[in-house]
Amino acid sequence: MKKQIVTSGASVISQKKNERLDAYLGSCVGITLVDRQANVGGLLHLLLAEATGMHVSFQPKSYASTGMPHFIKELIDAGASKERLEACVAGGALIGPLSDQDLSLDIGGRTAEVVQVYLDDQGIPITESETGGYSGRKMSLDLYHWNTTIEPTWQIERPSKSPFQTDVVFNIDEAIQRIKPIPQVALKVIRMIHRDDYTIKEVGSEIRQDQVISGRVLNLCNSTAMGLKTVVDSIDRALILIGEKRLLKLVVTASVKSLFPQSSQGYSLCKGGIFQHAIGTALIAQELAVFTKKAAPDIAYTAGLLHDIGKIPLDQVMAGNTPFFYRYMQENCGDFCEAEKLKFGIDHTEAGMRLGNLWTLPNNLINVIANHHFPETATEDQELVTIVHLADLLMSKFQSHHELEQIDTEKLSERLNRLGLNSDHLPILIDLIPKNIFQSTAMPI
Ligand SMILES: [Fe+2]
Ligand SMILES: [Fe+2]
Repeated sequence: MKKQIVTSGASVISQKKNERLDAYLGSCVGITLVDRQANVGGLLHLLLAEATGMHVSFQPKSYASTGMPHFIKELIDAGASKERLEACVAGGALIGPLSDQDLSLDIGGRTAEVVQVYLDDQGIPITESETGGYSGRKMSLDLYHWNTTIEPTWQIERPSKSPFQTDVVFNIDEAIQRIKPIPQVALKVIRMIHRDDYTIKEVGSEIRQDQVISGRVLNLCNSTAMGLKTVVDSIDRALILIGEKRLLKLVVTASVKSLFPQSSQGYSLCKGGIFQHAIGTALIAQELAVFTKKAAPDIAYTAGLLHDIGKIPLDQVMAGNTPFFYRYMQENCGDFCEAEKLKFGIDHTEAGMRLGNLWTLPNNLINVIANHHFPETATEDQELVTIVHLADLLMSKFQSHHELEQIDTEKLSERLNRLGLNSDHLPILIDLIPKNIFQSTAMPI
């Protein structure tokens, strides 16, 4: 059966066909509505209860208050009758190790509540509801039989039959030696972003020196996600059309992509999940840097992109050990890095630091890689580290289906304070998440 993923802030409406709609829900809320008689139904994937007024471009389907009326209207336009609609609601979980703040804010719970009240007001019965709780869910709508299924993500992605390795003999130095070196052009471009005094001519000549990367960058420029109306056939043309700042970020992204494993094993919960997590964190970090004015947006982007590079050498050994991590996180509600140290003798922040040193990355990037789980341990650039930490947190709560890692929110208040923010800003930060980043072809940098 063909499957279509409904990303956050989007809905899909369909007539009867042999296809399935899937939504991966962490703190987000999913709703299916079907009219069995008219053979029309759909799935809506909401991010928040209501808009905060700070969105870069208002997307009504991201919020329960505007998304629900919109969704019902689209169903009626497609031939459904409101009187015959049946609803299922899922998601709104509290993901990861929790703090009191999580419990009191309960952002997902608020979204689910607005949905339930709205459906009630409209007289639409809810035939199944699985909201709240502590784990992500996958919601699926079978467009042929009009059945909705709701399953915990960890059960689907990691069947309990997976082999459980008890003794891990792991040598980080050997694992790091096996990793492909980072392309030289990527390193040069990262340094240019840090220097911020490059010329367009310099940018063009650096990129042109690596034909493989140039080819990949042109492919990205011509992808539908970039939305360019003309074909980009040279780096010079790309420089004119998208400018040197975006081009530099495209080069780093294209270079790093090949280093991340593209499977759905190890840290990834879906195909290429760790890379999607990296891009999402990069884009959110960039938005947070613009919003807080506490770091240079381009440096925040690069730091977000590279923050989890330590998972690259650990990914293979993780693939055989995920049941341990699910069990550890569920039973101990503990820190993810602690679980890595227990199993592999090293966590991904330290592995990343070693890799960053080997690649001679700039010091502030190594600092982010080493301290992104506990920004207060950073001896310098605490604001940049905190920005990446928050971006990582938003990804792990609202896009929890990309990868395994969970982030602790114990010290969230003081981390927000460091950036001049408080917990009232959280819905605004969630609203700053670029809405189109999670489509598989997205590269909106
Ligand atoms: Fe991490
Ligand atoms: Fe991360």
